[in-house]
Amino acid sequence: MQQILETACKSIQDKIGTGQIANYIPALARINPKHFGASILSLDGEVSNYGDSKVLFSIQSISKVFSLTLVLRMIGDELWKRVHHEPSGNAFNSIVQLEMERGIPRNPFINAGALVLSDILLKNKSPEICLSEVLSFIQDVSRDPSIGIDTEVAESEISTAHRNASLANFMKSCQNIEHEVAAVLETYCSLCAVSMNCEQLCRAFLYLAGEGFDPIAKKRIISPEMARRINSIMMLCGHYDASGDFAYRVGLPGKSGVGGGIVVVVPEVGVITVWSPGLNQNGNSLAGTAALEAIAKVSNWNIL
Ligand code: DON
Repeated sequence: MQQILETACKSIQDKIGTGQIANYIPALARINPKHFGASILSLDGEVSNYGDSKVLFSIQSISKVFSLTLVLRMIGDELWKRVHHEPSGNAFNSIVQLEMERGIPRNPFINAGALVLSDILLKNKSPEICLSEVLSFIQDVSRDPSIGIDTEVAESEISTAHRNASLANFMKSCQNIEHEVAAVLETYCSLCAVSMNCEQLCRAFLYLAGEGFDPIAKKRIISPEMARRINSIMMLCGHYDASGDFAYRVGLPGKSGVGGGIVVVVPEVGVITVWSPGLNQNGNSLAGTAALEAIAKVSNWNIL
């Protein structure tokens, strides 16, 4: 695995530092674009690391996978009354489709869908209590109690979340947000501001490679059926309007974040995480996607 990782990552060195940093969140705009890290963790616990694999970064939309897991555990298929599971074909923060479709987001991974997930997770609790519950889930599946929220990133995002506020307010007008918009935004933005590294993210996603069962902790996290559904939604919606391109190039279910991280699940094999902050025009890591394409090619891991 180490050999596969090194061969693949060395082949894309020219892409590192290219693309655009997510400067619409002020605290993310300062990150050095030259970072590049990657990790692979197999189901039997073998870890391979490359470059900045132990450097913490903002997981951003990758957190939506944890929220979806918890919401499916809480309310199961009831979720699909409030969020669809169709690719959006639009930008992750698009407003136009939401109005046309009367406040029901296309899927749980676009911002509108994840705001509904936060609303469900809140369940009449304060954002603080809700956040500590989600964080303890992330720490649990990562087996790492040091994982936390970067409060500087969270505050920076909350104070500039005008687009997300408009999505949440619109959904509230359609009765698809129950709690106060401010509480939903605080929960959503704080979850995007969780800091993790490539190795921790591989560990945290292992249950999705193991049909919902974490083979290292020997613990069932979610049913096989729910794990299969989460992986399917990652395959079709994990990269927003570039989901088709990502599936064509990598051929595996994955979830990206504007912090430059991407986590990919290889069912029954393991998890691959890459991180490089320069983004392509769809908001997905440019060097990270290239690295995953190279890893998939060298390893021949795919679901197709
Ligand atoms: O709400 C936002 O815009 C960000 N906190 C998360 C967006 C994101 O990560 C989309 N990813 N590619």
